[in-house]
Amino acid sequence: MTAPFGRRACEVTDSRASGGYRVFSLLDAEGPEPLPGQFYMLATQDHWEERGQRPFLPRAFSVAETDAVEGGIRLDFLIEGIGPGTDRLCELEPGERVWVNGPLGNSFSEPKKLSEGAAGAILVGGGIGIAPLALLRRRFSERNVPARVLLGFRDEAHSGGLDDLFRCCEVGLASDDGHIGHHGYVTDLLSTMLEGDDAQSAAVYACGPPQMLDAVASLCSGRNVAHELAMESPMACGFGACFGCAVPKPGGGYIRLCVDGPVVRGG
Ligand SMILES: Cc1cc2nc3c(=O)[nH]c(=O)nc-3n(C[C@H](O)[C@H](O)[C@H](O)COP(=O)(O)OP(=O)(O)OC[C@H]3O[C@@H](n4cnc5c(N)ncnc54)[C@H](O)[C@@H]3O)c2cc1C
Ligand code: FES
Repeated sequence: MTAPFGRRACEVTDSRASGGYRVFSLLDAEGPEPLPGQFYMLATQDHWEERGQRPFLPRAFSVAETDAVEGGIRLDFLIEGIGPGTDRLCELEPGERVWVNGPLGNSFSEPKKLSEGAAGAILVGGGIGIAPLALLRRRFSERNVPARVLLGFRDEAHSGGLDDLFRCCEVGLASDDGHIGHHGYVTDLLSTMLEGDDAQSAAVYACGPPQMLDAVASLCSGRNVAHELAMESPMACGFGACFGCAVPKPGGGYIRLCVDGPVVRGG
């Protein structure tokens, strides 16, 4: 799905707390419906780059849910306030406007495209990385692709989005501090799931902190399980112009995560 040229202003239609995170919705009157894994560059129309203060540039956010509604497309985002840009987005109120550029980047593949024998999917999310998996899970469900969901959080303050984005599906939960689900890493749950003989009948899709993605990649590579990872790097433009998001490729060279990703195939 390609973004319309330039940025456009979209109205905030909802904004609410979701555990330790926030969810807000925009009405996009012009844009195409995004695919799971795609992201948008966002900046608020007011109180952004004021008095020479950060944030200067827009920030990248995965679309967590979307729907066709009267007047356009609803876009939902899950946000964790960790700095000036995300804090400002957490303060949004209905009626305010946000500059939007997107949908940008690529999307996740169907399990069968990753591996011929993969009939189903295992979705693994950590922290704010659960956002793009919500839309992915719904798309798989619409296409009758069986998907199991495993989500992990550091602690209660750094968790959220479950009731808003995953309320209608069964989720395996883990938390580092034991406040919910398995007391430990979400990759412990994945490891158990991949121990079965049918491990290779599923493809794994993961988004979360770099250490979690490393652990997922190593578990999957060790068992020959096809996998895709949605990665992050700091992005200044979001459409391939600045090279700020370049990450090294195994074997040499670089990819620009905003155009060659954010979803990359394992290995
Ligand atoms: C494709 C993509 C999708 C994303 N989706 C979401 C989402 O759905 N919800 C969400 O809350 N956040 C998401 N992020 C992360 C979000 O873009 C950053 O948290 C945000 O840019 C931080 O801006 P800030 O002004 O609040 O903080 P800053 O002061 O700019 O950054 C705070 C700290 O985070 C580090 N940082 C900033 N951006 C990144 C990054 N992209 N990767 C790694 N470290 C970073 C900085 O170095 C600094 O240490 C996504 C990032 C990318 C690239
Ligand atoms: S963010 Fe500018 S090239 Fe990727």
